[in-house]
Amino acid sequence: MRIKNICCIGAGYVGGPTMAIIAQKNPDINVTVVDINEKRISAWNSNNFDELPIYEPGLADVVKEARGRNLFFSTDIDDAIINSEMIFISVNTPTKTSGEGKGFAADLKYVKLCANQIAEISKSDKIIVEKSTVPVRTSEKIKEILRSKNKNVDFQILSNPEFLAEGTAMRDLKIPDRVIIGGDNTKKGNEAIQSLVDIYSSWVPKKNILTTNLWSSELSKLTANAFLAQRISSINSLSELCEETGADIEEVSKAIGMDSRIGSNFLKTSVGFGGSCFQKDILNLVYIARSIGLEKVANYWEQILIINNHQRERFANKIASLIKNKSLNKNVCILGWAFKKDTNDTRESAAIYVSDYLLKSKININVYDPKVEESQIFFDLNYLNNNDAKNKRHVSIYNNPIDCLHKTNIIAIITEWDEFKGYDWKNIYANMSKPAYIYDGRNILDKDKLESIGFNYIGLGR
Ligand code: NAD
Ligand code: UGA
Repeated sequence: MRIKNICCIGAGYVGGPTMAIIAQKNPDINVTVVDINEKRISAWNSNNFDELPIYEPGLADVVKEARGRNLFFSTDIDDAIINSEMIFISVNTPTKTSGEGKGFAADLKYVKLCANQIAEISKSDKIIVEKSTVPVRTSEKIKEILRSKNKNVDFQILSNPEFLAEGTAMRDLKIPDRVIIGGDNTKKGNEAIQSLVDIYSSWVPKKNILTTNLWSSELSKLTANAFLAQRISSINSLSELCEETGADIEEVSKAIGMDSRIGSNFLKTSVGFGGSCFQKDILNLVYIARSIGLEKVANYWEQILIINNHQRERFANKIASLIKNKSLNKNVCILGWAFKKDTNDTRESAAIYVSDYLLKSKININVYDPKVEESQIFFDLNYLNNNDAKNKRHVSIYNNPIDCLHKTNIIAIITEWDEFKGYDWKNIYANMSKPAYIYDGRNILDKDKLESIGFNYIGLGR
């Protein structure tokens, strides 16, 4: 089937950028992105492109080009469903906070709500594309809902997980390593797969489009995230070993990364990985393995998260212990709140956990991030520790790094924003209480240069 109209339910970090690229590369297809969140949709429709709800380098240009031509953002979900031949489900799939699987399993309530809504109002055949990250065999549940609730329409289900990383989303979408499309091995299933292959073929070389069965596609997504996170926890676990043995984690990382079988990507030590997906997807993998009795497999993958928590905690603990042992000012300047550079997304950022640990140690927090809003920082902390009043008293947000040094002996770098590397560190030193310390949770600064200015520099794994 040649697709002329696409609907995408969910205008978030995945739905927005992904559909912007599909619309840009397929000007003959109308793409409508819908969401229940009116504020988000009106931000996508804003005339001021600095107000798009997501900060992602290069995104505004693509939206500028396609919006109003063949890219639309709307809250009229029913209308978009009725008028589309292909519907992407790109809603959030967070970890369950109650019921069976609480704390581990993926919460599929939003995906199921979409399936119900599609089933209720569809009057013509539809191809449903699972874009959200979901547990293996979720497509079966979607199929069940659709086919039991609407017997007059043919629904084909595809799995097309998204591999973009935030901060580099536009590049990842324009030149993806691979696109995976899973579907049923039936005549109609293969036709549906081909319809989606045709859309991606507008810009992705055929050799990079991999077609599989539905379950391989679903499981590949969880597995890819687990492997990436596993590399970070591996290198982070070794950073502690380096600190005890005199080895340097940056040298070890370079040495092993030069082995072409290992490769150099994702070997950068940090104060712990964040982001909305690694933790939730690994918890989900652990849950799936455990729920089918594969306890040893579950324990193996769970260890990635144990090391990640440990890395954040030991970083925060070093700072708290220094303040206590040296009777320093009880204020710490946190540089960077986003979970990585070039995004305003803070979900599961190490900054939240480090700050919470320091607050519990009766230390005040001064925060500066180039892209994250004050309200988001308080939201993150309040959500984690439920202590709104205390957070308000002990956390101050600044809109420049110099003011953020107010009464501090210690700077903690949590996000690897490029601008931190270019600061006038002599001036920063002059504005701090002495002795001055930098805890570089990303190893982005020049140790020798900072020490020559007078700082005590403490990196990770060295
Ligand atoms: P998000 O929270 O930014 O966006 C999801 C959107 O869906 C929200 O705006 C929400 O209002 C909307 N929504 C939820 N239920 C709805 C409904 N019933 N009808 C209409 N709208 C509804 O989430 P995201 O980061 O875009 O992630 C979406 C999915 O993609 C998740 O499964 C995630 O694991 C996966 N994923 C995310 C990334 C990433 O970098 N963020 C990358 C790859 C895959
Ligand atoms: C990750 C994956 O890279 C994407 O392929 C996937 O689509 C996405 O999750 C998802 O499913 O949501 P993302 O979380 O946006 O993307 O960003 P990453 O670049 O993977 O970084 C995740 C975290 O790991 C960040 O906190 C980052 O700073 C940290 N990291 C990354 C390290 O500490 N060291 C590294 O070497 C790489």
